[in-house]
Amino acid sequence: MFARSTGSITKPEGAAGNQQVKGKVLSNMEYKYPLSNEWEAARERLFELEAVADPFTLRNLERIGIRKGWHCLEVAGGGGSIARWLCRQVGASGHVVATDLEPRFLEAINEPNLEVWRRDIVRDALPEGRFDLIHARAVLVFLPQPEKAIAKMVVALKPGGWLLVEEPDFISAAPDPSMSPASLALSRKGWDAVVKYLQSQGHDRELGRRLYHEVANLGGIRNGDFACAKRLCFA
Ligand SMILES: C[S@@+](CC[C@H](N)C(=O)[O-])C[C@H]1O[C@@H](n2cnc3c(N)ncnc32)[C@H](O)[C@@H]1O
Repeated sequence: MFARSTGSITKPEGAAGNQQVKGKVLSNMEYKYPLSNEWEAARERLFELEAVADPFTLRNLERIGIRKGWHCLEVAGGGGSIARWLCRQVGASGHVVATDLEPRFLEAINEPNLEVWRRDIVRDALPEGRFDLIHARAVLVFLPQPEKAIAKMVVALKPGGWLLVEEPDFISAAPDPSMSPASLALSRKGWDAVVKYLQSQGHDRELGRRLYHEVANLGGIRNGDFACAKRLCFA
C-alpha cells in the first residue's frame, strides 16, 4: 500500500493503546515483540523473508521512483536488504535512516549514507516532516495499535513524501488447494499453527487486508495518490 502526504495530518496521540492477548489487555508499554533479532537463527529467518518479499517491495519502490538526494526512512529494517538498496538509489547526496528495536543487522551494513537508530515505532517519536520516503514491511501486524504507527510515519514525511507500508495478508495466504493432498495437509498444518500463534498473541491477522483503509482513512494523504498492490500475499 503506498500513499503520498499532503503535509497536513494531525499528530497521533501518545502511547496509550492497548491490545487483547488471551483475554488480558496489554498496554503499549507492556507490549513485547515476540520474534527478537537476538535469536541465534534470526539472520536466517530474515533472509527467508527478504527472499520472498524483496522482489515485491522493489517493484513498489521502483513505481514510486526513488531519486538521488532523497532522505528515506526504513522502519523496522530487520536484516537490512531494503535499507541497503535505498542507500544505493539515493546516492552520496541522499541519506537513509534505518530503525529497528534490535538493529544489530542494520549496524553491520557498510554504506556511507546510512544512519542506524535503535527505535521503537510504538513508543518513540519520529522527527516531523523530514523524509521523502518512508517504508515499513512486516512489522505493523505485530503492533498493539498499527494505525498510530502509520499516523506517526505520515507525520514524519515531507509534504508530498511517499509512504510505502506492506504487511502480510494472512487471509489470501491460505495454502493453495490445488497442491497434492500430502503437501496440502502439511501446508495447512503449518498455516494453522501460524494463525493460531498470531491470534494467541493478539496480533491482527486481518491487518494486511484492511491496510488500504487504515491509510486511506488517515487524512493528510492526497486523494488519488494512494494505491494498493496485492501480490505474494503482501498487501
Ligand atoms: C518480521 S521482521 C521484518 C523485517 C523487515 N522489515 C523485512 O520485512 O525484511 C520485523 C522487524 O520489526 C522489528 N520490530 C518489531 N517491533 C518493532 C517496533 N515496535 N519498533 C521497531 N521495530 C520493531 C523487529 O526487530 C524485526 O526486525
